[in-house]
Amino acid sequence: MEVKTSLLDNMIGVGDMVLLEPLTEDSFLENLKKRFDHNEIYTYIGSVVISLNPYRSLPIYTPDKVEEYRNRNFYELSPHIYALADEAYRSLRDQDKDQCILITGESGAGKTEASKLVMSYVAAVCGKGQEVNKVKEQLLQSNPVLEAFGNAKTVRNDNSSRFGKYMDIEFDFKGDPLGGVISNYLLEKSRVVKQPRGERNFHIFYQLLSGASDDTLKKLKLERDFSKYNYLSLDSATVSGLDDAANFRTVRNAMQIVGFMEDEMQSVLELVAAVLKLGNIEFKPESRCNGMDESRIKDKNDLKEMCELLGTEQSVLERAFSYRTVEAKMEKVSTTLNVAQAYYARDALAKNLYSRLFSWLVTRINESIKAQAKTRHKVMGVLDIYGFEIFEDNSFEQFIINYCNEKLQQIFIELTLREEQEEYIREGIEWTNIEYFNNAVICDLIENNQNGILAMLDEECLRPGTVTDETFLDKLNTICADHQHFESRLSKNSKFLNDHSLPHNCFRIQHYAGKVLYRVEGFVDKNNDLLYRDLSQAMYKANHSLIKQLFPEGNPAKVNLKRPPTAGFQFKASVGTLMSNLQSKNPNYIRCIKPNDKKASHVFNGSLVCHQARYLGLMENVRVRRAGYAFRQAYEPCLERYKMLCKKTWPHWKGRARQGVEVLMTDLQVPAEEFSYGRSKIFIRNPRTLFFLEEKRKQCLEDLATLIQKIYKGWKCRSHFLLLKKSQVVVASWFRRYAVRLLSKLLLWLPIPESFARKLLRKLKYQKKCEEAVTTIAAFWHGTQVRREYRKFFRANAGKKIYNFTIQRIMQKYFLGLKSKLPSMSPIDKTWPARPYSFLDGVHAELRRIFHLWRCKKYRSQFTEEKKAVYEEKLEASELFKDKKALYPSSVRQPFKGDYLEISKNPKYQKLSSAVDEKILLADVVNKINRANGKGSSRLFLLTKKNVVLADQKTGQLKANVPLADLASVSTSTQTDGFFALKLKEGSASAVKGDFLLSSDHLIEIITKLHRIGSMAADREKLNIDISDEFLVQFKQDKVCVKFIQGSPKNGNSVSCKRKNNRLLEVSVPASS
Ligand SMILES: Nc1ncnc2c1ncn2[C@@H]1O[C@H](COP(=O)(O)OP(=O)(O)O)[C@@H](O)[C@H]1O
Ligand SMILES: [Mg+2]
Repeated sequence: MEVKTSLLDNMIGVGDMVLLEPLTEDSFLENLKKRFDHNEIYTYIGSVVISLNPYRSLPIYTPDKVEEYRNRNFYELSPHIYALADEAYRSLRDQDKDQCILITGESGAGKTEASKLVMSYVAAVCGKGQEVNKVKEQLLQSNPVLEAFGNAKTVRNDNSSRFGKYMDIEFDFKGDPLGGVISNYLLEKSRVVKQPRGERNFHIFYQLLSGASDDTLKKLKLERDFSKYNYLSLDSATVSGLDDAANFRTVRNAMQIVGFMEDEMQSVLELVAAVLKLGNIEFKPESRCNGMDESRIKDKNDLKEMCELLGTEQSVLERAFSYRTVEAKMEKVSTTLNVAQAYYARDALAKNLYSRLFSWLVTRINESIKAQAKTRHKVMGVLDIYGFEIFEDNSFEQFIINYCNEKLQQIFIELTLREEQEEYIREGIEWTNIEYFNNAVICDLIENNQNGILAMLDEECLRPGTVTDETFLDKLNTICADHQHFESRLSKNSKFLNDHSLPHNCFRIQHYAGKVLYRVEGFVDKNNDLLYRDLSQAMYKANHSLIKQLFPEGNPAKVNLKRPPTAGFQFKASVGTLMSNLQSKNPNYIRCIKPNDKKASHVFNGSLVCHQARYLGLMENVRVRRAGYAFRQAYEPCLERYKMLCKKTWPHWKGRARQGVEVLMTDLQVPAEEFSYGRSKIFIRNPRTLFFLEEKRKQCLEDLATLIQKIYKGWKCRSHFLLLKKSQVVVASWFRRYAVRLLSKLLLWLPIPESFARKLLRKLKYQKKCEEAVTTIAAFWHGTQVRREYRKFFRANAGKKIYNFTIQRIMQKYFLGLKSKLPSMSPIDKTWPARPYSFLDGVHAELRRIFHLWRCKKYRSQFTEEKKAVYEEKLEASELFKDKKALYPSSVRQPFKGDYLEISKNPKYQKLSSAVDEKILLADVVNKINRANGKGSSRLFLLTKKNVVLADQKTGQLKANVPLADLASVSTSTQTDGFFALKLKEGSASAVKGDFLLSSDHLIEIITKLHRIGSMAADREKLNIDISDEFLVQFKQDKVCVKFIQGSPKNGNSVSCKRKNNRLLEVSVPASS
């Protein structure tokens, strides 16, 4: 039996914050802490998962756990990230809803780990197979590559992602992965040139120097020593627990799996080496005659090596570090750079090189993992992006990141409320308006195209004249002064004039998650993100295909005087795309929280967690979720869980689940305002109602447990007792036997009179014999019974069985053998296999007959209608003439063509064919025998359904037209000649001229056709066919006898006809050979 479990079982604290009672920040934190202390790092807010970083490995990600959560309902088991992944995957696979998984939280809270857990869960539960596994492997291996280039050790996290990542995994209709698309956001490129104390540059630099072979390093002109490179900070170059050398091998391997070519990997490493070299280039001032300082490169060795790596000309790059060319319309003006400007240019180049390399890597990975099939995909997006950042010193980056989080909150509100509303409508529950804070107004403050902060920053950057961070702040102070979420000391709004927590060079925004103070320093510069054109042109000139690709704007053929889009503009655009992408999907949230700042396990720092809970808007989240009803459950599981609380529903409820729940709630007297009945779910307004039910259930379960224990104990004692009783019987019988034996021995020894003893002994012996006799009789009886039962298996019956078996085998063999030896399907094939056994004689002959009939039937069934008509005609001919007329055998081979003349096509006979209005069934040339002398003359003979027509052969002139109705009979001889007489009915109109005596080569066909027409016409009687060697014909008034005689050989082979006298016409026919 399947065991129904629930989130509510063995719950530590509450598994779903929605059930928190009372809901305050303190109770919220206390619940989190309680669960965390019991290793419960996951807690729900409805369908949102809060995840606390345990900073140690917990045994909750095993394959067994995957199986446990697979295909289970979300609230069935205790909270887990797998439950969310499973819900999302199944909804994608079974309901065709695209999904997105939004993972937010601050650095080190466990976002990246969470995203990997989701991916690995989906990989474990989706389809298998060679092709699918390859796709999965490529998708999973894209992670180590991106982490090597995009992650770094920070004070918060040894493997902190320094970019935002969104990955769409695409599935086919079965839920098998097809491929993916990765988008990256805002790589923290400033890290390339400078790292805060206690932090490192991106992993790849250290991995390359520690893990590459000596040979590779030599080729890249690098040394293993980190301290040789200005861009690598030394204070935390090695991180405990991080094996850079081993990771380098992992990354190379992953790149191979993802599909990077050997030369591509080489190019990538060359670029990484070039960035390191670039950091070592230093500048010194050189005074010029005009009193200005101009920068010069101190030691050109690094520059030389770098140029060799990238295939650039040294002088070009050297010039780009000393001069800057400004192009305005037609003019080009070169100005020299001072040392500070040269360093700025160098760092800008390094940052650009690295960040463009990173973007290229993403594009390249996308090329590899792109789904091949063009069919519609289902998509699961996984977003791993920075959460809100509130530092002491917040700059442009934090501003941008927080803007992104505002947008995510917008989506959250919109989709959660929408989902809630849709569920109410679906369930037929009245919609109660939900009060919540909508942060759209803050988004507008930042992104509005006219007077948003980003738009104004862009405006400043593009404005001619001197532009500084201060002028930007001035602008904000005038334009945003009245916005209720904008605060600045010098804004027109005098409210903040005396606010000393607000320095002069800062502005503050009241984000939905809290107030953040931004220092304007660097805003303009970072937004401009300028790389001097001389540098990009120098890069484009490099003899290195990858670099050329990375700096397309350096192509002199494509000089574009327009400024490249600002960083803010680009980010806003990509956030816009991301948002519309997310909006089209079903969202799933994972909110990651860091329990302490020390990366320590088992430490829960209340104030730190409280801070995060606030800026993640978690309380807000709970409030929105339970604004209407805190808890909902489908009727079936609800009844299943609480049915023991009411006698009417326990142990089985026969009716529908909803009615059961209604009975239950009435019986328990739960106040009506505490719940509503939806179509498929019950909605419970307050958590306390749920806990009331849970408490009752717990009590009831205890009572039930006592009852079960009671019954079990009773059963156990009783079975023990029965066993004892059975043993007692056995022991007693054995004892009696033993006692009797002992007694008989004793009797012989006892000093009692001998006669008495003997008598007793005899009696005992007799008794024993009787007992033995009983045993023997019983044994025989049993034997007989058994024999009778088993007689059917005895040898006496075997003969019949063997006989039957043999016969069956022979028949089987016979039928199978016959099947393989059947003759061909031709009806005239006379062969038939020999019969193997004489007892099969009858069967064999019958089978032959049946087979023949069957193949004839098959043969006939192939006939077309025309062919069938031809054969019918042939059959009729055979019935009429076979064995009656000697001409017949020679006609069998002749096809009955019918129309031998094609009258209608012959222009000569046009008149004739128009005179005959019926379809012509037969047209032939015949000999008409002259009645006077027996000579023949040619005539056209036409036969239609109604008439026989004779016409002149040369002119086609009509000679006679005899309706078939006037025809009395046809006469012909028994011999090989073609003579026949058409005899007319006496008194008919045609009879005036007398009968016709004709001769034709196609006599058999003509007469058969005439006969057929007669037999098919309903209004006429059958035509008589008279076959004899003497018959009478009526010539005008005379009746003449036509007589056929055997001709003598001297007459040759032809038939001759002579009028002998008035009454006789003699036809001599050559003897048939
Ligand atoms: N579920 C987890 N179980 C064990 N350790 C974890 C878990 N989540 C995070 N960690 C630890 O925390 C560190 C930081 O997590 P990470 O996902 O990189 O944070 P983020 O991406 O949010 O900056 C990881 O390197 C890992 O050591
Ligand atoms: Mg991360």
